[in-house]
Amino acid sequence: MKATNTNLDAYWMPFTSNREFKRNPRIITRAQGAYFYDDRGRKIFDGLSGLWTCGAGHNRPEIAAAVHEQLQTLDYAPAFQFGHMGAFELAQRIAERMPDGLDRVFFTNSGSESADTSLKMARAYWRLKGRAEKTRLIGRDKGYHGVNFGGFSVGGIAPNRMMFGDGPTTDHITHTLLPENAFTRGMPATGADLANQLEAVVARHDASTIAALIVEPFAGSAGVIVPPVGYLNRLREICTKHEILLIFDEVITGFGRCGAMTGAEAFGVVPDIINLAKQLTNGAIPMGAVVARRDIYETFMAVSTPEYMLEFPHGYTYSGHPVACAAAHASLDILDKDGLIDRVAEMAPVFEERLHSLKGLPRIMDIRNFGLAGALTIEPYPNEPARRPYEIAMKCWEKGLYVRYGGDTIQLGLPFIVEVDEIDTLVETLRQVIT
Ligand SMILES: Cc1ncc(COP(=O)(O)O)c(C=O)c1O
Repeated sequence: MKATNTNLDAYWMPFTSNREFKRNPRIITRAQGAYFYDDRGRKIFDGLSGLWTCGAGHNRPEIAAAVHEQLQTLDYAPAFQFGHMGAFELAQRIAERMPDGLDRVFFTNSGSESADTSLKMARAYWRLKGRAEKTRLIGRDKGYHGVNFGGFSVGGIAPNRMMFGDGPTTDHITHTLLPENAFTRGMPATGADLANQLEAVVARHDASTIAALIVEPFAGSAGVIVPPVGYLNRLREICTKHEILLIFDEVITGFGRCGAMTGAEAFGVVPDIINLAKQLTNGAIPMGAVVARRDIYETFMAVSTPEYMLEFPHGYTYSGHPVACAAAHASLDILDKDGLIDRVAEMAPVFEERLHSLKGLPRIMDIRNFGLAGALTIEPYPNEPARRPYEIAMKCWEKGLYVRYGGDTIQLGLPFIVEVDEIDTLVETLRQVIT
């Protein structure tokens, strides 16, 4: 269906160059499997699984049926002081898939809400432990934890912070993008010692003031920055030593993208809290979750206040929404039934091989990959790092390939259902456009 006669002015689009878009609209009308279709009837390969959301492919009939049925059974249940079984069952299914010890699940509606929920949980945990001064939140340069006040404050992508003034008190350790590791396939062998910067932050502020460190197992929005071998393990050691909660923001890495259920599992490091969102419902309905170690939950339950009092005064009207839960159950069924996580693990080496064949093309300064995620760093125009990736992404769109551009990178997050010939076509399209 062509979007005619509709004025585009009223919609203030998120994270979009509105002026450019409204002069050059890119209107998606439908999707199927690994493809979008636009208002010119063109078929476009979805090289980012929506926004890292739709790994199982678009318009899965199983999810549509579950949502349809749920809407006719229980469209909404109050999230506060009342419950519905779909949320309890989903929490249990998620808990069963998390690393040992992390089995208490708090529902949100997005990655940003997961970030802020986890940060508040960390501060409240220390307060309940009698350590109310442990409030400082540590993030990482180039980290992305969404757009709410906690998340953007611990985030390390400068343009996302500079317009909004102060948030909670934070500090940052460096990212792990080392020039000598350019064109590494998977995890870089060197750079684990960058984790020791956390010791410097502790020395600066004293551990008695620090509540939590939040990191993405691999940084997604900054362009798939893969942790060096041993780096996350070292962060874990330092956090344990100084009693700092370690939060893994797995909004992109969780639910299959790494060829494992979580980045924690893929990288073999267990945090205290895991944040989830994007792949939970395969993109069909907004949903996020924060999974905490059981003893964190138990600390909240051990309060001396009367039983009718709230233990954690936090939550969202749509936490554990029945329709989102139905979509998530169906989505988990698909992951299991179609063996999609194993498929990601199988396809990852093929993707790695093909993606790195772009090395040597003009203006490609780095190529990184992990699981079915990958990114290219593009040599910038002087003082305009974001322009060339934008130009490449727009040319790809014209050639029937959707990729994401951000900062000086082009980002890829292939659908878990991708076929080898689709990877070949994607890489060929990039090769032509870049050349
Ligand atoms: C690691 C991480 N955290 C949080 C978010 C924010 O998620 P949302 O856009 O659903 O609020 C994102 C989104 O890309 C993300 O990648």
